[in-house]
Amino acid sequence: QAFFSPITGVAPPSPTTRHTKITVVGVGNVGMAIAQTILTQDLADELALVDAKEDKLRGEMLDLQHAAAFLPRTKIRASLDYSVTANSDLCIVTAGARQNPGESRLNLLQRNVSLFRHIVPPLAKYSPGSIILVVSNPVDVLTYVAWRLSGFPPNRVIGSGTNLDSSRFRFLIADHLDVNAQEVQAYIVGEHGDSSVALWSSISVGGVPILSFLQRQQISYEKHTLDNIHKEVVQSAYEVISLKGYTSWAIGYSVANLARTILRDQRRIHPVSVLAKGFHGIDGGDVFISLPAQLGRSGVLGVTNVHLTEEEAQQLRNSAKTILELQSQLGI
Ligand code: NAI
Ligand code: LAC
Repeated sequence: QAFFSPITGVAPPSPTTRHTKITVVGVGNVGMAIAQTILTQDLADELALVDAKEDKLRGEMLDLQHAAAFLPRTKIRASLDYSVTANSDLCIVTAGARQNPGESRLNLLQRNVSLFRHIVPPLAKYSPGSIILVVSNPVDVLTYVAWRLSGFPPNRVIGSGTNLDSSRFRFLIADHLDVNAQEVQAYIVGEHGDSSVALWSSISVGGVPILSFLQRQQISYEKHTLDNIHKEVVQSAYEVISLKGYTSWAIGYSVANLARTILRDQRRIHPVSVLAKGFHGIDGGDVFISLPAQLGRSGVLGVTNVHLTEEEAQQLRNSAKTILELQSQLGI
């Protein structure tokens, strides 16, 4: 006798048709922070894990499976073989070398581009309708590389970009003003890295533009105070890496935040790495850098025409130029 029997007169249920599948490539610090946040937040019906280290991969899969009694039901599979990723809705790529203390993200480029040549084509082959979300660094150039190697339209290749930097920015502003970070609307755009751009002109707290908010609250601020907050954002990763060797928790939550917006078609606006050519005078080639973009189930729905001061626009163009110069050496 089967373990379950249908109610008399009721046909057995047909297999579930609505099925959300996420692939995470790379089960290191970042990949596992993302994976466990996906499970905790119930973002997928199936989670596929891929890595190059077989024992590490199986160990991480088993360790997550053993938490099943405490988590929403999610099928967790892992393999060195990319067929395990077939029919994914979202493919998150975290595989690759990470910075040593003091090392810039851009310095990882050559090592991680060569990995992407082996990772991206099979992802695209097994999930031709998926969205690729790149996390590996340097994330902006690697998002361009993933776009070129996948052959996907640019709206379905996204880099986590400055979604993380903006979260750090919001934390620091909120801490400065003693307010909940979720009340702080603030964007950092451009390169996820040393040349990022803080959009001071668009920051609001509880819907009030920050500069007038600070004046009305008589909270002392000078331009250098605000600039120091941005500098602290740029230094954040270097400081955490020097202290614990890598960053993981904030990027884990940041990427799960993006996955929810995409897979639940939330149509929220996130600063993420998108094909930015043509925006704010960015020209000179196909370049992915972060701009505030509306995300949903089909990926990038549109890029907001956010107002930039001329100084901010120039900084953004400089950021794009940095990325393009690196990219031009790749021959991709
Ligand atoms: P990690 O060394 O802990 O993990 C990297 C994983 O990639 C390892 O498990 C390794 O076996 C795997 N891997 C290497 N070659 C592979 C291949 N060919 N196929 C599949 N898997 C492969 O490094 P961690 O700390 O997880 O960082 C991973 C990447 O994420 C780094 O590039 C890091 O800079 C980046 N990162 C990006 C952030 C962002 O905001 N965009 C934030 C934090 C990290
Ligand atoms: C970070 C680096 C590792 O911002 O990209 O955490």
